[in-house]
Amino acid sequence: MIKPPLILGIETSCDETAAAIVADGSLVLSNVIYSQIDIHRSFGGVVPEIAARNHVGKIDFVVQKALDDAKVTLGDISAVAVTYGPGLVGALLVGVNFAKALAFGADLPLIAVNHLEGHIASAYLENADFKPPFVAMIVSGGHSHLVHVRDYGDYQVLGRTQDDAAGEAFDKVARVLGLPYPGGIEVDKLSKQGNPTAIAFPRAKLENNLNFSFSGLKSAVINYLNTAKMKDEIINPADIAASFQEAVVDVLTKNAMEACKITGCNRLAVVGGVACNSRLREALTKLCDENSIKLHIPKPIYCTDNAAMIAAAARHHFQTKSFATLNLNGNPSLTL
Ligand code: KG4
Ligand code: ZN
Repeated sequence: MIKPPLILGIETSCDETAAAIVADGSLVLSNVIYSQIDIHRSFGGVVPEIAARNHVGKIDFVVQKALDDAKVTLGDISAVAVTYGPGLVGALLVGVNFAKALAFGADLPLIAVNHLEGHIASAYLENADFKPPFVAMIVSGGHSHLVHVRDYGDYQVLGRTQDDAAGEAFDKVARVLGLPYPGGIEVDKLSKQGNPTAIAFPRAKLENNLNFSFSGLKSAVINYLNTAKMKDEIINPADIAASFQEAVVDVLTKNAMEACKITGCNRLAVVGGVACNSRLREALTKLCDENSIKLHIPKPIYCTDNAAMIAAAARHHFQTKSFATLNLNGNPSLTL
């Protein structure tokens, strides 16, 4: 028996055109993701204009496939939810305008979802027993946040990056090591052959808060490479990758444990693309075990950008009838 509401989620904030149908904020009936990575790879990163154009070309097909895969029609849907920020403005507008037209045409409520709230809600997917309060660590290509999720829709940001996001640092270090985009997974793979203690890269500890900073670490890796090149020294890319990754993991795990301590939460959800990192998963599993914290990291497919998490986040808005109007606009710098 499928529990209502049945929400159609749409996500186009960056380079994934995604649509999904989720029942009662947890049961995933379909999850369609068209990734543009192959298109952007040759540019070494996402090109906003190209991303927006490709969303336009794919959105119709992706939404229809989400309905077909779930074996439902628009008549079965309770509401249309869409990411309206933060993200690339042109990319966001494709999803927002498509969702507005769909909601208007099918006479369905429209729900505006913050992309970060979506990442947090990925913790509920296929995990109906997981409920607030908990600490969420969002680590993605665009964001690094520690959030106290006090209740549905009640978020206290405990810390955030002051410069680069964790995933951005992974991607930039991968690039200087000559690895393809997106680099996070490549650094993860290469690190398995390296020594994480080979190079003592800096760990930024910001005084008296849970904020992050990754740009100094990224510069340290670049300086290390430049110095080695000038001195004609042979470098070991696997050692560099492993030592860099260890520094990121150290900082993320320390702050996450501190956030649990400060809030008195014994549950931690780690979400966003960097939550796929194997060393981060391993280190957190051990630390959470030692500190009696229940760790939840969603399946990798729900960690990276997807629309199921947007539909999951929308359930609370549906229950409180927080519907958007057809004046909804994309907001590239939306905060939590
Ligand atoms: O959540 P996401 O799909 O998009 C944003 O909202 O930004 O995250 C993408 C980021 C990229 O920076 C990518 O390199 C990183 O997640 N990533 C990883 C791994 N898999 C993806 N970083 C480290 N290790 C991984 N295994
Ligand atoms: Zn994201």
